[in-house]
Amino acid sequence: MIHKRNATITAVGGYVPDTILTNKMLESYVDTSDEWITSRTGIKERRILSDITLATSDMAAFAIKDLLHESGVDPKTIDCLILATSTPDHILAPAATLVCEKAGLTIAWGFDLNAACSGFLYALSVGASFIESNRYHKILVVGADQMSAIVNYEDRNTCVLFGDGAGAVLLESSSDGSGLIDNVFKVDGKGSSSLSVSGGGSLYPASLVTVADKKHFIQQDGKNVFKNAILGMTSTCSEIMERNQLDTAMIDWIIPHQANLRIIEAVSKHLDFPMDKVKVNIQKYGNTTAATIPLCLWDFKEDFKEGDKLLITAFGAGFTYGSTYLKWGKLHSKII
Ligand code: ACO
Repeated sequence: MIHKRNATITAVGGYVPDTILTNKMLESYVDTSDEWITSRTGIKERRILSDITLATSDMAAFAIKDLLHESGVDPKTIDCLILATSTPDHILAPAATLVCEKAGLTIAWGFDLNAACSGFLYALSVGASFIESNRYHKILVVGADQMSAIVNYEDRNTCVLFGDGAGAVLLESSSDGSGLIDNVFKVDGKGSSSLSVSGGGSLYPASLVTVADKKHFIQQDGKNVFKNAILGMTSTCSEIMERNQLDTAMIDWIIPHQANLRIIEAVSKHLDFPMDKVKVNIQKYGNTTAATIPLCLWDFKEDFKEGDKLLITAFGAGFTYGSTYLKWGKLHSKII
């Protein structure tokens, strides 16, 4: 049987900072409790990039180095880096250029892609189309966010939710039928005010007033995001299953964006999909925005077998949301 040229994941890497911020520690910052955070979100702790000389590009470069080390792939063979992030080191220049430099990707070009928590999934699809076009052969897709840089640790509505981290995958072509099969992506701009960092951009350039108004911090209408996340992830999973003639019994794993365990459980319930086949690591890292999905792939890669059918689904600020269906392929094994 001849398969079309697909883009498949051939290596995975990840990085989380060493510093752990537990729920108990947050109790000394804001009026909250370990019991509230655990029962309302599923989060027990998150990682914080506490070294002030480091930023998102460093976490991305560490995740890439982990991938290259584990796979034995030569950094000089990478054609392109797509960096999904909402927290680039600077507004200018793009963080991807810094990452190419720091990770030794000497021939690669690259760019940032901002689609909040859906960023990694969107970037994966862009990278896959580069491979499918046969123009490029090795694309790194990275999700990295330093959420601690935009979180207000005096706001209990948001500070308990987020953490820092980065995950990376390598896309190459496959001819065995593995790889990305389909995507369903949507945006809904009516949701933009429900989750935002409104200061420091072109509408509200940074000023003493934007800082006094705390516009440089993330703000969200948690209830509206919660409700729409369940709807958006469930509907795009259903749509992609329907058009690929899949029922839930045919899916091996769901990898959801990790924003709240209750959102994940509700999506699983609506899809009638068992939670023991839904990958969850939110208890360790919280919501790392563009990094949650690649960090899940990194944490659980030993569980995925060649040919496994994965449904990956995300929802984030914008609103941006969508689902991707892929068949897991063969990973590079390290050349010793
Ligand atoms: N500790 C204790 N109490 C709290 C805390 C806290 N950390 N946060 C809120 N509360 C209080 C509220 O003030 C409220 O008190 P009140 O009734 O006296 O007013 C009460 O708890 C209930 O608040 P709700 O907002 O109703 O709590 P809810 O169950 O909705 O949970 C949460 C809030 C966790 C934020 C939830 O709405 C959520 O997860 N929303 C989705 C967030 C999300 O998915 N973001 C994803 C995208 S991120 C991205 O794209 C960058």
